[in-house]
Amino acid sequence: MTSVVIVGTQWGDEGKGKITDFYAEKADIVVRFQGGNNAGHTVVIGEKTYKFHLIPSGTIQNKKVIIGNGCVIDLKVLLQEIELLKSKNFKIDLKISSNAHVIFPYHNLLDGLEENFKGKLSAGTTKRGIGPCYQDKVARFGIKIIDLLHEDLLRTKLEQNITLKQKLLKIYGDKTELDKEKIINEYIKYGEKIRPYVDETPYIINKALDENKKILFEGAQGTLLSIDHGIYPRTTSSNTCSGGACVGAGVGPTRINKVIGVMKAYLSRVGTGPVPTEILDEEKEIANYIREKGHEYGTTTGRPRRIGWLDLVAVKYAKMINNLDMIAITKLDTLGGLEKIKICVAYMIEGKEGRKETDIMPTNMLENCEPIYLEMQGWKDKSPDEWHKISKMGYDAIPENMKKYLKKIEDYLKIPFCLISLGPRRDDTIQLQKIF
Ligand code: IMP
Repeated sequence: MTSVVIVGTQWGDEGKGKITDFYAEKADIVVRFQGGNNAGHTVVIGEKTYKFHLIPSGTIQNKKVIIGNGCVIDLKVLLQEIELLKSKNFKIDLKISSNAHVIFPYHNLLDGLEENFKGKLSAGTTKRGIGPCYQDKVARFGIKIIDLLHEDLLRTKLEQNITLKQKLLKIYGDKTELDKEKIINEYIKYGEKIRPYVDETPYIINKALDENKKILFEGAQGTLLSIDHGIYPRTTSSNTCSGGACVGAGVGPTRINKVIGVMKAYLSRVGTGPVPTEILDEEKEIANYIREKGHEYGTTTGRPRRIGWLDLVAVKYAKMINNLDMIAITKLDTLGGLEKIKICVAYMIEGKEGRKETDIMPTNMLENCEPIYLEMQGWKDKSPDEWHKISKMGYDAIPENMKKYLKKIEDYLKIPFCLISLGPRRDDTIQLQKIF
């Protein structure tokens, strides 16, 4: 039995889609366990780029994929993705947990309204209705995938929800009139369309584990966006950590064999909130260089991402929270051409007792942290083809300064790299340790 969880160690967009796709080749099943279409997974194969928001990345390896109970599902988006994949002749072997929750149009509306109301405290959400849908789930107002298959129940639940949400919209000063019948009829139709995919997914996953099948649990977003362990309230509403895989897929913790953390060679953030290593002011040109070279624009929203130096205090925190075994590092090629590269190894924190140095992640005081950097020599820029050749030749062929950069990170985190990614394509990858 091998079950591996893949999680983001930063603020999302670490390249989990590519890494999951890479490992999916050897997996039997790929499972998503949290989040919804706030995620954006990009996979590049040859000249083709695929972007998904909901369907697990293993689909384009023609694997069985599961959307677990911990996810929230916008059915319009899911059905569009299914149609797109079908039109490109991919095999759809998809199961959706009957217990996953459904995003309704009023969730999207409320997402925007809540953000406006929060003002300075807003998280800069993707406005995909994620937070409001999880709110309903926890408040036990939520409507699950299974409810779509029972018209009477769906009607009762939706009538209650729509009555309540209509009042909420008014409180926020929004004039939208929710059309009950239209919503009910629309979602009954969606229910019929997804009926063949709905299943009791924990049984499928646990049976596969009993049969020694290989399962990949694909995390979305990143550790610092976790509702429990992230920089609250600038987080998403689900548990983005490895523990989330157990709850969000229905497997016991001791069934997980390995946890891989995906870490970008620098960091990016979409949304608001403190980012101690954000590259600003006189270094702004460097941030622009990285943003353009690394195409650091939101896959879901198109927003330009904030760019920062690699923050090892944060990644070490992610190592602890997720109990990471190994790290997959991505986008080392993007840093090519920079003379100097910084790594944050500690913070100077302004507390009640004055200033002190720490390498413990102050999740509640991040705005008071000044990064302490170690400066390293960069490596030359190369063309995508050159990086591709280097990837083929293996670790020995990478630039010496890149080796030093990696060694510094490994010494700090005290866990090995399992994979180095030198470009967006599946084969721009050097595998250092197998996970399956
Ligand atoms: P929500 O998940 O749309 O509620 O957004 C909450 C916070 O998480 C915001 O700061 C978003 O920018 C961020 N976020 C959500 N999904 C992603 C993602 O896939 N990558 C990066 N940031 C994300």
